[in-house]
Amino acid sequence: MKKRSCVILGCSGTVGQRLIEALYPHPWFDIVDIAASQRSAGQKYKDRMRDSWYLSSDIPDEIAEMVIKPMDPKVVEEADLAFSALPSGIAKEVEPEFAKAGYVLTSNASAFRMTEDVPLIIPEINADHLQLIDIQKEQRNWPGAICTDPNCTTIGLAMVFKPIYDRFGIEEAIMNTWQAISGAGLPGVPGLLITDNVIPYISGEEEKVISEVHKILGKFEDDHIVKADFKMAATCTRVPTIDGHFETAYIKTKEPVDIEEVKKVIREFPGLDSLGLPYAPKDPLIVREEMNRPQPRLDRMAGSVPGMSVTVGRIRPGLDEKSINLCLISHNTIRGAAGAVILNAELMCVKNYV
Ligand SMILES: NC(=O)c1ccc[n+]([C@@H]2O[C@H](COP(=O)([O-])OP(=O)(O)OC[C@H]3O[C@@H](n4cnc5c(N)ncnc54)[C@H](OP(=O)(O)O)[C@@H]3O)[C@@H](O)[C@H]2O)c1
Repeated sequence: MKKRSCVILGCSGTVGQRLIEALYPHPWFDIVDIAASQRSAGQKYKDRMRDSWYLSSDIPDEIAEMVIKPMDPKVVEEADLAFSALPSGIAKEVEPEFAKAGYVLTSNASAFRMTEDVPLIIPEINADHLQLIDIQKEQRNWPGAICTDPNCTTIGLAMVFKPIYDRFGIEEAIMNTWQAISGAGLPGVPGLLITDNVIPYISGEEEKVISEVHKILGKFEDDHIVKADFKMAATCTRVPTIDGHFETAYIKTKEPVDIEEVKKVIREFPGLDSLGLPYAPKDPLIVREEMNRPQPRLDRMAGSVPGMSVTVGRIRPGLDEKSINLCLISHNTIRGAAGAVILNAELMCVKNYV
């Protein structure tokens, strides 16, 4: 694969750090520039990150010496791709400016996820929704494009729903989360508030999960997405784990279910082997049979590409023959963020959108 140049927008946040860790050794992408807010611009990355680097890997030497740019496409180096890890409010203003300047954006931000002509992609589920990019470029007349990944809470859930939705249909679903603190970004939730505690809400999260699942499981028809339309309720909470969102789901199906068959369709959920994407795990969904799995600490790095697989467990009957109970773990800053936008970028490369 021909190497593509890329820039990282929001390089100093929790997702930005994961992007640097993953993109620096990536065989297809070269980091040519990094950008953050005016608070960070002008500083060497290693100086800015002295007290904020939260990963156990070291900052790559070459990146450590880079000077952070302000968030302006006129100042940031030209590149094929821009990986965006910006807060939504900033992304809303900045991402279209970068698309107008010719960058193909692969974004973590929620700003454009539900916009009609913007794809919201999980490559194993809805790669065909990338066709929205053709419509987007035509309607907006810009040389670049914006492609988004789902919220970190949505991704694991949508991946587990997909094989169930296709085989048994979904009538309605109720989900609950116990979400890691890295999901709140930096500086995040103060230690004094989260230690020894559960925060019983995450602003906007429940609405995002519901609307995003419906778009992802929707069908591309003519020039738009026809969304899935089952009923859903969500409760999202924050807990003092560092990485890895734990979620439970109660799913009412359209067809009667056999629990062994539910496990089989989840286990056999196909990866993207034929495309040869470096970030695509061979085992996107892993089923555990033990009563005490999955757990964030034990399972968040599962899979052939560590952190890119979702682990599902305690798959059991619900209240009647048309219902399923289960829980899952997905790594919020890898499969749920940095890894997701990297996988989307790889997909766009092989589909000739970059
Ligand atoms: N953390 C997760 O697990 C996760 C998962 C999925 C999606 N996301 C989404 O990914 C995005 C990044 O999340 P995060 O957790 O990495 O956030 P974060 O830790 O708060 O980092 C935000 C980044 O954006 C930059 N930024 C903030 N305000 C800016 C401004 N006014 N102008 C230019 N740059 C600005 C920051 O630069 P400074 O350091 O200079 O302020 C920093 O580099 C968000 O949209 C979030 O919702 C996060």
